[in-house]
Amino acid sequence: MSVNLETSYLGMTLSSPLVVAPSPLGRRVAGLQRLEEAGAAAVVLPSLFEEQIVHDSYQVHAALEAGAGVYQEAARGYLPEAAEGYTNGSERYLALLAEARRTLRIPVIASLNGASAGGWVEYARRMEDAGASALELNVYFIAADVEETGEQVERRYLDLVAAVRRAVGIPVAVKVGPYFSSMANMARRLVEAGANGLVLFNRFYQPDIDVEDLKVRANVELSTSAELRLPLRWIAILKGRVKASLAATTGVHTAEDVLKLVMAGADVAMSASALLRRGPGWLTGVRDEMAAWMEEHEYDSIEQMKGSLSQAASPDPAAFERANYMETLVTYATPTL
Ligand SMILES: Cc1cc2nc3c(=O)[nH]c(=O)nc-3n(C[C@H](O)[C@H](O)[C@H](O)COP(=O)(O)O)c2cc1C
Repeated sequence: MSVNLETSYLGMTLSSPLVVAPSPLGRRVAGLQRLEEAGAAAVVLPSLFEEQIVHDSYQVHAALEAGAGVYQEAARGYLPEAAEGYTNGSERYLALLAEARRTLRIPVIASLNGASAGGWVEYARRMEDAGASALELNVYFIAADVEETGEQVERRYLDLVAAVRRAVGIPVAVKVGPYFSSMANMARRLVEAGANGLVLFNRFYQPDIDVEDLKVRANVELSTSAELRLPLRWIAILKGRVKASLAATTGVHTAEDVLKLVMAGADVAMSASALLRRGPGWLTGVRDEMAAWMEEHEYDSIEQMKGSLSQAASPDPAAFERANYMETLVTYATPTL
């Protein structure tokens, strides 16, 4: 018997739930090819950031304006309108995307990363034109303004999602963090605003303090499987309650992690840390282990397993909420003092 690992995500049929999350591994087409060969079912490119786009368009504008109005012969500036041969970060991104799309057989998802609706969102359309199979919008925002209310913060997300939705015809997945007062309601409203998929969750990189140098240090620490529980819970809660694909990111390190997520209701599991630590071969190992486990436990397909332990399907739905919290604390095996 052979098991069917296929899954559907954002309306696409993927060969398995194993998707490469945005990370520096996706910066070059040669690297992307290795990931595909090792078994990636789709790749999400590293993000193009709002700050990069705004910076680049400012630079282009400044270059075009240089000399404008000073001399008669250059009333509109010395550079031609479409600054020929100009390659900035955003242009390079689109070139990488187009080349990846030409070279790979698997879907290539472009990632746009920002925090406010604005002209930069226009790049969503340019990503679609460059061949993106779908778009992942990462909204990474720290609500640090004491004047800004929760409602205003949520509005910011929804406006941004709606703006991107209006800009493109391809599927849009929205990657967010878990820090909303009502995560379930926010998930529903993100979908109403136009998200075809939710990517749960953004991992917030917390700054540290170096007590010797008296400096704030921003360094990235890779995740472990222990961090899987947060996306696992919310995917289980949201499965069947929002009309959107569900992707898990943060803490995917083993075949068992992926199987748990699929049982909770995930359509795909995305990985960055495991791939950064172990390289593309990690994908092959996890895919083979998943297939072997499923065969041993008599599952025919991922679709059959999907959502079998979501909150809606679970024999113990309270386990995903407060009841489980109290029980866990009260029954903790305490050492005798
Ligand atoms: C070095 C590094 C770079 C990353 N760059 C991006 C990025 O450009 N855009 C994005 O949405 N996420 C980015 N991420 C986040 C990952 O895509 C992923 O969501 C996160 O690391 C959690 O998954 P993990 O536990 O598999 O690492 C990055 C992560 C790492 C470690």
